[in-house]
Amino acid sequence: MDLPFLLISLLIIFIFSAFPSSRCKEDANFTMCDLPYECGNVKNLSFPFWGDGRPQSCGHPGFRLRCERGEYPVMDINEVEYRVLNVSQENSTMTLARSDLWDSPCSPGPVNTTFTPPLFFNYTQGVVNLTLFYHCPELTFSPYNFTCPGDEGGTYFYNVSDFLPDVNQPNGLGACGGFVQVPVFEAALDELPNQDGLEDVTTALREGFGLNYTEFPLCRACEISGGRCGTSDSGETFYCFCRKGTEELVCPHDTAGVYSFVDYRERSQPVTIQFS
Ligand SMILES: *[C@@H]1O[C@H](CO)[C@@H](O)[C@H](O)[C@H]1NC(C)=O
Ligand SMILES: *[C@@H]1O[C@H](CO)[C@@H](O)[C@H](O)[C@H]1NC(C)=O
Ligand SMILES: *[C@@H]1O[C@H](CO)[C@@H](O)[C@H](O)[C@H]1NC(C)=O
Ligand SMILES: *[C@@H]1O[C@H](CO)[C@@H](O)[C@H](O)[C@H]1NC(C)=O
Ligand SMILES: *[C@@H]1O[C@H](CO)[C@@H](O)[C@H](O)[C@H]1NC(C)=O
Ligand SMILES: *[C@@H]1O[C@H](CO)[C@@H](O)[C@H](O)[C@H]1NC(C)=O
Ligand SMILES: *[C@@H]1O[C@H](CO)[C@@H](O)[C@H](O)[C@H]1NC(C)=O
Ligand SMILES: *[C@@H]1O[C@H](CO)[C@@H](O)[C@H](O)[C@H]1NC(C)=O
Ligand SMILES: *[C@@H]1O[C@H](CO)[C@@H](O)[C@H](O)[C@H]1NC(C)=O
Ligand SMILES: *[C@@H]1O[C@H](CO)[C@@H](O)[C@H](O)[C@H]1NC(C)=O
Repeated sequence: MDLPFLLISLLIIFIFSAFPSSRCKEDANFTMCDLPYECGNVKNLSFPFWGDGRPQSCGHPGFRLRCERGEYPVMDINEVEYRVLNVSQENSTMTLARSDLWDSPCSPGPVNTTFTPPLFFNYTQGVVNLTLFYHCPELTFSPYNFTCPGDEGGTYFYNVSDFLPDVNQPNGLGACGGFVQVPVFEAALDELPNQDGLEDVTTALREGFGLNYTEFPLCRACEISGGRCGTSDSGETFYCFCRKGTEELVCPHDTAGVYSFVDYRERSQPVTIQFS
Protein backbone atom coordinates (compact mmCIF):
# COMPACT_ATOMS: atom_id res chain seq x y z
CA MET A 1 0.00 0.00 0.00
CA ASP A 2 1.49 3.31 -0.96
CA LEU A 3 1.21 6.41 1.17
CA PRO A 4 -1.28 8.51 -0.89
CA PHE A 5 -3.69 5.57 -0.98
CA LEU A 6 -3.45 5.19 2.79
CA LEU A 7 -4.09 8.90 3.30
CA ILE A 8 -7.13 8.86 1.05
CA SER A 9 -8.50 5.82 2.87
CA LEU A 10 -8.03 7.51 6.20
CA LEU A 11 -9.69 10.63 4.88
CA ILE A 12 -12.71 8.65 3.68
CA ILE A 13 -12.98 6.86 7.01
CA PHE A 14 -12.75 10.23 8.76
CA ILE A 15 -15.49 11.77 6.60
CA PHE A 16 -17.83 8.85 7.27
CA SER A 17 -17.29 8.94 11.01
CA ALA A 18 -17.52 12.74 11.27
CA PHE A 19 -20.75 12.91 9.30
CA PRO A 20 -22.77 9.82 10.08
CA SER A 21 -25.06 8.71 7.30
CA SER A 22 -28.18 9.50 9.39
CA ARG A 23 -27.22 13.19 9.10
CA CYS A 24 -27.47 12.98 5.31
CA LYS A 25 -31.04 11.80 5.55
CA GLU A 26 -32.02 14.49 8.03
CA ASP A 27 -35.24 16.29 7.14
CA ALA A 28 -34.53 19.58 5.32
CA ASN A 29 -36.91 21.52 7.58
CA PHE A 30 -35.20 20.14 10.67
CA THR A 31 -31.75 21.10 9.41
CA MET A 32 -32.94 24.60 8.45
CA CYS A 33 -34.68 25.30 11.74
CA ASP A 34 -31.86 23.82 13.81
CA LEU A 35 -29.81 26.85 12.77
CA PRO A 36 -30.19 29.58 15.41
CA TYR A 37 -30.67 33.29 14.74
CA GLU A 38 -27.61 35.37 15.55
CA CYS A 39 -26.87 39.09 15.20
CA GLY A 40 -24.34 41.05 17.22
CA ASN A 41 -24.78 40.34 20.92
CA VAL A 42 -28.08 38.61 20.35
CA LYS A 43 -27.26 34.94 19.88
CA ASN A 44 -28.67 31.45 19.79
CA LEU A 45 -32.33 32.35 19.25
CA SER A 46 -34.68 29.60 18.19
CA PHE A 47 -38.44 29.55 17.63
CA PRO A 48 -40.46 31.86 17.60
CA PHE A 49 -37.67 34.09 16.19
CA TRP A 50 -36.74 34.14 12.53
CA GLY A 51 -35.31 36.50 9.92
CA ASP A 52 -32.18 37.04 7.84
CA GLY A 53 -30.94 33.50 7.12
CA ARG A 54 -33.57 31.81 9.26
CA PRO A 55 -36.76 31.16 7.25
CA GLN A 56 -40.18 32.28 8.42
CA SER A 57 -41.32 28.65 8.63
CA CYS A 58 -38.89 28.25 11.56
CA GLY A 59 -40.60 30.99 13.55
CA HIS A 60 -43.82 32.84 14.08
CA PRO A 61 -44.83 35.76 11.78
CA GLY A 62 -44.90 38.23 14.72
CA PHE A 63 -41.25 37.58 15.64
CA ARG A 64 -39.28 38.69 12.60
CA LEU A 65 -35.83 40.13 13.26
CA ARG A 66 -33.63 42.02 10.83
CA CYS A 67 -29.90 42.34 11.44
CA GLU A 68 -28.77 45.95 11.14
CA ARG A 69 -25.20 46.28 9.77
CA GLY A 70 -24.36 42.99 11.48
CA GLU A 71 -24.46 44.84 14.81
CA TYR A 72 -27.90 44.46 16.33
CA PRO A 73 -31.31 43.12 15.36
CA VAL A 74 -34.34 45.32 14.82
CA MET A 75 -38.00 44.44 14.93
CA ASP A 76 -40.96 46.29 13.37
CA ILE A 77 -44.04 46.72 15.51
CA ASN A 78 -46.99 48.62 14.07
CA GLU A 79 -44.72 50.14 11.45
CA VAL A 80 -42.28 51.56 13.99
CA GLU A 81 -38.78 50.12 14.15
CA TYR A 82 -37.32 48.97 17.47
CA ARG A 83 -33.77 48.02 18.29
CA VAL A 84 -33.54 44.69 20.10
CA LEU A 85 -31.15 45.18 23.01
CA ASN A 86 -31.37 41.66 24.33
CA VAL A 87 -33.50 38.57 24.42
CA SER A 88 -33.77 35.96 27.13
CA GLN A 89 -35.48 32.91 25.72
CA GLU A 90 -35.12 31.31 29.11
CA ASN A 91 -37.46 33.94 30.59
CA SER A 92 -39.41 34.79 27.40
CA THR A 93 -38.41 38.43 27.72
CA MET A 94 -36.80 40.99 25.48
CA THR A 95 -35.64 44.60 25.78
CA LEU A 96 -36.47 47.02 22.97
CA ALA A 97 -35.76 50.68 22.25
CA ARG A 98 -37.19 52.87 19.48
CA SER A 99 -34.57 53.07 16.70
CA ASP A 100 -35.41 56.61 15.60
CA LEU A 101 -34.93 57.98 19.12
CA TRP A 102 -31.68 56.14 19.84
CA ASP A 103 -29.27 58.93 18.97
CA SER A 104 -31.53 61.69 20.19
CA PRO A 105 -35.23 62.22 20.86
CA CYS A 106 -35.11 65.42 18.78
CA SER A 107 -36.07 64.19 15.34
CA PRO A 108 -38.52 61.34 15.64
CA GLY A 109 -39.44 59.34 12.56
CA PRO A 110 -43.12 58.51 12.84
CA VAL A 111 -44.84 61.11 15.08
CA ASN A 112 -48.17 60.88 16.87
CA THR A 113 -47.42 57.26 17.59
CA THR A 114 -48.02 55.23 20.70
CA PHE A 115 -46.95 51.75 21.60
CA THR A 116 -49.48 49.03 22.20
CA PRO A 117 -48.11 45.58 22.85
CA PRO A 118 -49.04 43.37 19.90
CA LEU A 119 -50.59 39.94 20.19
CA PHE A 120 -48.38 37.50 22.12
CA PHE A 121 -46.53 40.36 23.89
CA ASN A 122 -46.95 42.05 27.22
CA TYR A 123 -44.92 44.46 29.32
CA THR A 124 -42.58 43.17 31.97
CA GLN A 125 -42.94 44.73 35.37
CA GLY A 126 -42.05 48.37 35.93
CA VAL A 127 -42.70 49.68 32.43
CA VAL A 128 -44.46 53.04 32.06
CA ASN A 129 -45.25 55.42 29.22
CA LEU A 130 -43.07 58.41 28.51
CA THR A 131 -44.73 61.00 26.29
CA LEU A 132 -42.65 63.50 24.37
CA PHE A 133 -44.25 66.64 22.94
CA TYR A 134 -42.61 68.45 20.06
CA HIS A 135 -42.71 72.03 18.80
CA CYS A 136 -45.09 73.33 21.40
CA PRO A 137 -46.08 76.97 21.68
CA GLU A 138 -44.90 78.62 24.86
CA LEU A 139 -46.88 76.79 27.52
CA THR A 140 -46.46 76.47 31.20
CA PHE A 141 -47.54 73.12 32.52
CA SER A 142 -46.31 70.87 35.22
CA PRO A 143 -44.00 68.47 33.47
CA TYR A 144 -40.52 68.83 32.24
CA ASN A 145 -38.94 70.48 29.29
CA PHE A 146 -35.97 69.72 27.11
CA THR A 147 -34.27 71.76 24.44
CA CYS A 148 -33.16 70.44 21.09
CA PRO A 149 -29.99 71.95 19.66
CA GLY A 150 -30.24 74.34 16.72
CA ASP A 151 -33.99 74.21 16.64
CA GLU A 152 -36.22 77.27 16.67
CA GLY A 153 -39.34 75.18 16.47
CA GLY A 154 -40.74 75.88 19.89
CA THR A 155 -40.70 74.18 23.23
CA TYR A 156 -40.37 70.50 24.02
CA PHE A 157 -41.98 68.77 26.94
CA TYR A 158 -42.12 65.31 28.30
CA ASN A 159 -44.37 63.69 30.83
CA VAL A 160 -44.72 60.33 32.43
CA SER A 161 -48.32 59.40 31.80
CA ASP A 162 -50.78 57.91 29.40
CA PHE A 163 -51.95 61.43 28.64
CA LEU A 164 -52.28 62.27 24.98
CA PRO A 165 -52.86 65.74 23.56
CA ASP A 166 -56.43 66.68 22.97
CA VAL A 167 -56.31 68.04 19.46
CA ASN A 168 -59.54 69.89 20.06
CA GLN A 169 -57.87 72.16 22.57
CA PRO A 170 -55.99 74.71 20.48
CA ASN A 171 -54.27 76.17 23.52
CA GLY A 172 -53.42 72.87 25.13
CA LEU A 173 -50.87 70.30 24.10
CA GLY A 174 -52.93 69.74 20.99
CA ALA A 175 -51.22 72.87 19.75
CA CYS A 176 -47.88 71.07 19.78
CA GLY A 177 -46.47 69.91 16.46
CA GLY A 178 -46.63 66.28 17.47
CA PHE A 179 -46.00 63.71 20.13
CA VAL A 180 -44.42 60.33 20.61
CA GLN A 181 -45.42 57.95 23.33
CA VAL A 182 -42.88 55.29 24.14
CA PRO A 183 -42.59 52.82 27.01
CA VAL A 184 -39.57 53.07 29.32
CA PHE A 185 -38.49 51.44 32.55
CA GLU A 186 -39.92 53.33 35.47
CA ALA A 187 -36.57 53.02 37.21
CA ALA A 188 -34.94 55.00 34.39
CA LEU A 189 -37.27 57.89 35.18
CA ASP A 190 -36.35 58.03 38.83
CA GLU A 191 -33.56 60.34 37.82
CA LEU A 192 -35.90 62.69 36.02
CA PRO A 193 -35.98 65.64 35.96
CA ASN A 194 -32.33 66.34 36.27
CA GLN A 195 -30.12 69.15 35.04
CA ASP A 196 -30.18 68.52 31.33
CA GLY A 197 -33.61 67.49 30.14
CA LEU A 198 -32.36 66.30 26.76
CA GLU A 199 -29.69 64.06 28.22
CA ASP A 200 -32.11 62.64 30.79
CA VAL A 201 -34.62 61.73 28.13
CA THR A 202 -31.93 60.21 25.91
CA THR A 203 -30.62 58.07 28.74
CA ALA A 204 -34.07 56.80 29.66
CA LEU A 205 -34.88 55.94 26.04
CA ARG A 206 -31.62 54.04 25.58
CA GLU A 207 -32.37 51.71 28.44
CA GLY A 208 -35.39 50.61 26.45
CA PHE A 209 -38.34 48.73 27.85
CA GLY A 210 -39.08 45.15 28.70
CA LEU A 211 -41.58 42.92 26.99
CA ASN A 212 -42.34 39.36 27.68
CA TYR A 213 -43.84 37.17 25.05
CA THR A 214 -46.04 34.14 25.19
CA GLU A 215 -44.30 30.90 25.67
CA PHE A 216 -45.52 28.62 22.94
CA PRO A 217 -46.35 25.49 24.91
CA LEU A 218 -46.70 23.44 21.73
CA CYS A 219 -43.10 24.30 20.99
CA ARG A 220 -41.90 23.25 24.43
CA ALA A 221 -43.40 19.82 23.88
CA CYS A 222 -41.88 19.55 20.40
CA GLU A 223 -38.42 20.58 21.60
CA ILE A 224 -38.50 18.20 24.53
CA SER A 225 -39.17 15.41 22.07
CA GLY A 226 -36.10 16.47 20.06
CA GLY A 227 -37.88 18.45 17.34
CA ARG A 228 -37.52 21.98 16.01
CA CYS A 229 -40.62 24.19 15.92
CA GLY A 230 -42.17 25.95 12.96
CA THR A 231 -45.43 27.35 11.65
CA SER A 232 -47.27 27.80 8.40
CA ASP A 233 -46.98 31.19 6.64
CA SER A 234 -50.00 32.57 8.48
CA GLY A 235 -48.64 31.29 11.78
CA GLU A 236 -51.88 29.45 12.39
CA THR A 237 -50.65 25.92 11.92
CA PHE A 238 -47.93 24.58 14.14
CA TYR A 239 -45.36 22.06 12.90
CA CYS A 240 -42.85 19.99 14.76
CA PHE A 241 -39.90 19.32 12.45
CA CYS A 242 -38.23 16.11 13.46
CA ARG A 243 -35.04 14.51 12.13
CA LYS A 244 -37.13 12.15 10.07
CA GLY A 245 -39.88 14.49 8.92
CA THR A 246 -42.68 16.82 9.94
CA GLU A 247 -45.07 15.93 12.75
CA GLU A 248 -48.13 17.75 14.02
CA LEU A 249 -47.07 17.98 17.66
CA VAL A 250 -44.11 15.93 18.85
CA CYS A 251 -41.43 13.66 17.45
CA PRO A 252 -41.54 9.92 17.95
CA HIS A 253 -39.72 9.68 21.23
CA ASP A 254 -37.63 7.02 22.93
CA THR A 255 -38.65 7.96 26.43
CA ALA A 256 -42.30 7.64 27.24
CA GLY A 257 -43.65 10.57 29.20
CA VAL A 258 -46.57 12.85 29.75
CA TYR A 259 -46.40 16.52 29.09
CA SER A 260 -49.23 18.87 29.90
CA PHE A 261 -49.59 22.37 28.55
CA VAL A 262 -51.97 25.11 27.52
CA ASP A 263 -52.55 25.41 23.82
CA TYR A 264 -51.93 29.06 22.91
CA ARG A 265 -54.62 29.00 20.26
CA GLU A 266 -57.23 28.25 22.88
CA ARG A 267 -55.66 30.03 25.76
CA SER A 268 -57.54 28.40 28.57
CA GLN A 269 -57.58 24.78 27.57
CA PRO A 270 -54.89 22.48 28.93
CA VAL A 271 -53.82 19.75 26.56
CA THR A 272 -51.98 16.64 27.59
CA ILE A 273 -49.54 14.91 25.32
CA GLN A 274 -48.25 11.44 25.85
CA PHE A 275 -44.97 10.41 24.28
CA SER A 276 -45.02 6.76 23.37
C1 LIG B 1 -41.20 21.69 5.33
O1 LIG B 1 -42.42 21.48 6.04
C2 LIG B 1 -43.57 21.94 5.37
C3 LIG B 1 -44.75 21.75 6.29
O2 LIG B 1 -44.88 20.41 6.65
C4 LIG B 1 -43.73 21.22 4.05
O3 LIG B 1 -44.84 21.74 3.36
C5 LIG B 1 -42.48 21.40 3.22
O4 LIG B 1 -42.57 20.62 2.06
C6 LIG B 1 -41.26 20.97 4.00
N1 LIG B 1 -40.08 21.30 3.23
C7 LIG B 1 -39.10 20.46 3.06
C8 LIG B 1 -37.97 20.96 2.24
O5 LIG B 1 -39.11 19.35 3.56
C1 LIG C 1 -28.57 27.53 22.59
O1 LIG C 1 -29.91 27.36 23.01
C2 LIG C 1 -30.29 26.01 23.23
C3 LIG C 1 -31.75 25.99 23.62
O2 LIG C 1 -32.53 26.71 22.72
C4 LIG C 1 -29.43 25.42 24.33
O3 LIG C 1 -29.76 24.06 24.51
C5 LIG C 1 -27.96 25.55 23.97
O4 LIG C 1 -27.18 25.13 25.06
C6 LIG C 1 -27.63 27.00 23.65
N1 LIG C 1 -26.25 27.08 23.18
C7 LIG C 1 -25.42 28.02 23.60
C8 LIG C 1 -24.06 27.99 23.02
O5 LIG C 1 -25.75 28.88 24.41
C1 LIG D 1 -34.26 35.14 34.05
O1 LIG D 1 -35.00 35.37 35.24
C2 LIG D 1 -34.31 35.00 36.42
C3 LIG D 1 -35.27 35.14 37.57
O2 LIG D 1 -36.00 36.32 37.49
C4 LIG D 1 -33.08 35.89 36.55
O3 LIG D 1 -32.36 35.55 37.72
C5 LIG D 1 -32.20 35.72 35.35
O4 LIG D 1 -31.11 36.63 35.40
C6 LIG D 1 -32.98 35.96 34.07
N1 LIG D 1 -32.14 35.62 32.96
C7 LIG D 1 -31.92 36.44 31.96
C8 LIG D 1 -31.00 35.97 30.90
O5 LIG D 1 -32.45 37.55 31.89
C1 LIG E 1 -50.38 41.78 30.67
O1 LIG E 1 -49.92 42.00 32.00
C2 LIG E 1 -50.84 42.66 32.83
C3 LIG E 1 -50.19 42.88 34.18
O2 LIG E 1 -48.86 42.54 34.20
C4 LIG E 1 -52.11 41.83 32.93
O3 LIG E 1 -53.04 42.55 33.68
C5 LIG E 1 -52.66 41.55 31.54
O4 LIG E 1 -53.74 40.67 31.64
C6 LIG E 1 -51.61 40.89 30.67
N1 LIG E 1 -52.12 40.73 29.32
C7 LIG E 1 -51.92 39.63 28.61
C8 LIG E 1 -52.47 39.62 27.24
O5 LIG E 1 -51.28 38.67 29.05
C1 LIG F 1 -44.72 39.15 32.07
O1 LIG F 1 -43.84 39.19 33.17
C2 LIG F 1 -44.41 39.68 34.35
C3 LIG F 1 -43.34 39.74 35.39
O2 LIG F 1 -42.16 40.24 34.89
C4 LIG F 1 -45.56 38.78 34.76
O3 LIG F 1 -46.20 39.34 35.89
C5 LIG F 1 -46.55 38.64 33.64
O4 LIG F 1 -47.52 37.70 33.98
C6 LIG F 1 -45.86 38.19 32.38
N1 LIG F 1 -46.82 38.19 31.30
C7 LIG F 1 -46.82 37.28 30.36
C8 LIG F 1 -47.83 37.43 29.27
O5 LIG F 1 -46.01 36.38 30.34
C1 LIG G 1 -49.19 53.56 27.00
O1 LIG G 1 -50.36 54.12 26.50
C2 LIG G 1 -51.01 53.36 25.51
C3 LIG G 1 -52.24 54.09 25.06
O2 LIG G 1 -52.03 55.42 24.93
C4 LIG G 1 -51.40 52.02 26.09
O3 LIG G 1 -51.97 51.21 25.07
C5 LIG G 1 -50.18 51.32 26.65
O4 LIG G 1 -50.57 50.13 27.27
C6 LIG G 1 -49.50 52.23 27.65
N1 LIG G 1 -48.27 51.61 28.10
C7 LIG G 1 -47.96 51.46 29.37
C8 LIG G 1 -46.61 50.90 29.68
O5 LIG G 1 -48.73 51.74 30.27
C1 LIG H 1 -36.82 74.61 30.67
O1 LIG H 1 -37.53 75.85 30.52
C2 LIG H 1 -37.00 76.92 31.31
C3 LIG H 1 -37.92 78.10 31.17
O2 LIG H 1 -38.18 78.39 29.81
C4 LIG H 1 -35.56 77.21 30.85
O3 LIG H 1 -35.00 78.23 31.65
C5 LIG H 1 -34.71 75.94 31.00
O4 LIG H 1 -33.43 76.17 30.46
C6 LIG H 1 -35.36 74.78 30.26
N1 LIG H 1 -34.63 73.57 30.59
C7 LIG H 1 -34.15 72.76 29.66
C8 LIG H 1 -33.43 71.55 30.17
O5 LIG H 1 -34.31 72.91 28.47
C1 LIG I 1 -48.45 64.54 33.43
O1 LIG I 1 -48.60 63.33 34.17
C2 LIG I 1 -49.44 63.47 35.31
C3 LIG I 1 -49.47 62.15 36.04
O2 LIG I 1 -48.54 61.24 35.60
C4 LIG I 1 -50.85 63.83 34.85
O3 LIG I 1 -51.65 64.04 35.99
C5 LIG I 1 -50.80 65.12 34.03
O4 LIG I 1 -52.07 65.39 33.51
C6 LIG I 1 -49.82 64.98 32.90
N1 LIG I 1 -49.74 66.27 32.22
C7 LIG I 1 -49.69 66.37 30.92
C8 LIG I 1 -49.68 67.73 30.40
O5 LIG I 1 -49.63 65.39 30.22
C1 LIG J 1 -49.63 65.21 15.07
O1 LIG J 1 -50.60 65.71 15.99
C2 LIG J 1 -50.62 67.12 16.07
C3 LIG J 1 -51.62 67.48 17.15
O2 LIG J 1 -51.22 66.91 18.36
C4 LIG J 1 -51.01 67.71 14.72
O3 LIG J 1 -50.99 69.13 14.81
C5 LIG J 1 -50.01 67.24 13.66
O4 LIG J 1 -50.41 67.66 12.39
C6 LIG J 1 -49.93 65.71 13.66
N1 LIG J 1 -48.86 65.31 12.76
C7 LIG J 1 -48.97 64.27 11.95
C8 LIG J 1 -47.79 63.97 11.06
O5 LIG J 1 -49.96 63.55 11.93
C1 LIG K 1 -31.03 43.94 28.61
O1 LIG K 1 -30.73 45.27 28.25
C2 LIG K 1 -31.16 46.23 29.18
C3 LIG K 1 -30.82 47.57 28.60
O2 LIG K 1 -29.54 47.61 28.08
C4 LIG K 1 -30.46 45.98 30.53
O3 LIG K 1 -30.97 46.91 31.45
C5 LIG K 1 -30.77 44.58 30.99
O4 LIG K 1 -30.07 44.31 32.18
C6 LIG K 1 -30.36 43.59 29.94
N1 LIG K 1 -30.75 42.27 30.37
C7 LIG K 1 -29.98 41.22 30.18
C8 LIG K 1 -30.54 39.92 30.65
O5 LIG K 1 -28.90 41.30 29.65
